[in-house]
Amino acid sequence: MSPLRRLLRYAAPYRGRFAVALAAMAAYGGASAWLAYLVKPIFDEVLIKQQSLSTVAWAILAAYLLKGLGSYASSYLMADVGQHVVLDLRNEMFRRTLGQSAAFFKSRSTGQLLSRLTNDIAQVQQVVSETVADLLRESMAVVGFAGLLFSYDAGLALVCLTGAPLVMYPLVKLGQRLRRTTKRSQEHLEHMSHVATEAFTGHRIVKAFGAEEREAARFGLAARALYRVNLAVTATVSVMPPVMEFLGGVAMATALWYGSREIGAGRLTEGEFTAFLAALFLMYGPLKKLSRVNANIQQSIAASQRIFELIDTRSEVPEAPGAPALPPLAQAIEFRDVSFEYEDARGKSALRHISFTVRAGQTAAIVGRSGAGKTSLVNLIPRFYDVTGGAILIDGTDITRVSLASLRGQIGMVTQDTVLFDDTVAANIAYGRPAATAAAIEAAARAARAHEFIAGLPQGYRTVIGERGQRLSGGQRQRLAIARAILSDAPILILDEATSALDSESEGLVQDALANLMKDRTSFVIAHRLSTIQRADVIIVLERGRVAEVGRHEELLAKPDGIYAALHAVQFAAPRRRAATAPAGKAGA
Ligand SMILES: Nc1ncnc2c1ncn2[C@@H]1O[C@H](COP(=O)(O)OP(=O)(O)OP(=O)(O)O)[C@@H](O)[C@H]1O
Ligand SMILES: [Mg+2]
Repeated sequence: MSPLRRLLRYAAPYRGRFAVALAAMAAYGGASAWLAYLVKPIFDEVLIKQQSLSTVAWAILAAYLLKGLGSYASSYLMADVGQHVVLDLRNEMFRRTLGQSAAFFKSRSTGQLLSRLTNDIAQVQQVVSETVADLLRESMAVVGFAGLLFSYDAGLALVCLTGAPLVMYPLVKLGQRLRRTTKRSQEHLEHMSHVATEAFTGHRIVKAFGAEEREAARFGLAARALYRVNLAVTATVSVMPPVMEFLGGVAMATALWYGSREIGAGRLTEGEFTAFLAALFLMYGPLKKLSRVNANIQQSIAASQRIFELIDTRSEVPEAPGAPALPPLAQAIEFRDVSFEYEDARGKSALRHISFTVRAGQTAAIVGRSGAGKTSLVNLIPRFYDVTGGAILIDGTDITRVSLASLRGQIGMVTQDTVLFDDTVAANIAYGRPAATAAAIEAAARAARAHEFIAGLPQGYRTVIGERGQRLSGGQRQRLAIARAILSDAPILILDEATSALDSESEGLVQDALANLMKDRTSFVIAHRLSTIQRADVIIVLERGRVAEVGRHEELLAKPDGIYAALHAVQFAAPRRRAATAPAGKAGA
């Protein structure tokens, strides 16, 4: 379907208002023509014969009143329709975008997405609320004026309006060109906001490495590219009005030359001729506006194509239509010959032929060197990504067959990089259970050993923690994330280096809380602490995307030359030396 027709479909629910706006436009067009018509009695009767002064004066007032009311009502109502369309479009776009897979967000930057949500929508908004109104309203005025011209002198009107079709061709050509330049302009805008978001979010690293000038230069380059293409847009847009104006001049000159002969021959009164000229003159404004309409429409087509492209992107973790809810986990989670490769790294498997089973209530520890595939493996369970081979089964049901909400509703997660929102401490802890009571939130915070530092914050649980929790320390952020997982009370728990940012003392305390939490749950734990791993029911050792060893602590330690034994020797047994072998990802977080 063409983007314009799709946009129109968004306007369909507001057709009542649209109809009233149309009526107001008709009034506007009629009043405009009426005003031009009044020029004739002004000349022929008021000025020459000194008659009907008050009638004409009242008529002028009435015509202006009608025109003003029509203009106001139509502008307001059309803007109302336009804003509604934009509102619906924005909400749908946001929802669709958020529903996309993790891979989608990896391939597009926040800046790009924001740019579509703001700049492209603004382009569309201009058209639906202003341009369409202009198109209809000014067309009606033009029809009114043209009617008047023809009623006075059809021949003269025909001569004056022959130029009109000539304008159409360049108008259409320019429109096509404009659609292309606008698309480029929006792309450059998107790139610029990408550069800016990246620099702003990474501002600390930028400063630490003294890269301000480099970032500024990068931004300057993007801004300059935008400037150039915007100028190209302007060059295209600005061609039309002068062309129109010149054609108007030609029409005027023709009318003057031809009209004076008609008056001389007595076929036209002076008043009629003046009214004719007035109508021609007044017609110019609407025509000029109309010449821009096509340009605006082409621009919004370019923008709406980009919007619909985003809305139409199908999520890579699709939910089967009418997918049933996953019943609560009762028996086991099974990885059956699971393979996985990232979309942007095809051919290079992140996980290969992984098979293991974790029974309900058990704790599985996943260990392996940095980059072995630990995070990739646990990300498959809530379907942030879908397996590319094999299947993950919960109680024998393939997780791709059940609804995403029911699957994710059973999973509590603490991720490697803590995600917090610019909201209060309490709201962050209760993110998974917004209805939780203050007492429940505090209990979760106590279990996560977070209560003490929260109590010390200026407004306690009501303290707003800043974007991404910037006002907290790394360890504090992590404890909030743990409290959130504790409160969510999900039967399946995924902890990806959940305690990595804590010092040994608070880590020990949180570890106890986590151990309590894990007791009646099925947990997948990526940890570096020996105690957690020792307690695990099953340890899965990953090595370059494969399961190298599976077993319990003692079994694995007993293996001579085992990977686990080697890891154990350098990593778990000597936590102080871990700083040197810490995954690179954390250094920058
Ligand atoms: N989004 C991605 N796109 C492409 N490749 C990725 C992506 N994320 C991770 N990888 C690659 O997949 C492999 C496994 O990464 P993963 O994050 O699972 O390792 P990890 O075991 O969790 O490591 P760490 O202990 O450092 O957290 C790595 O080689 C990594 O480069
Ligand atoms: Mg990881």
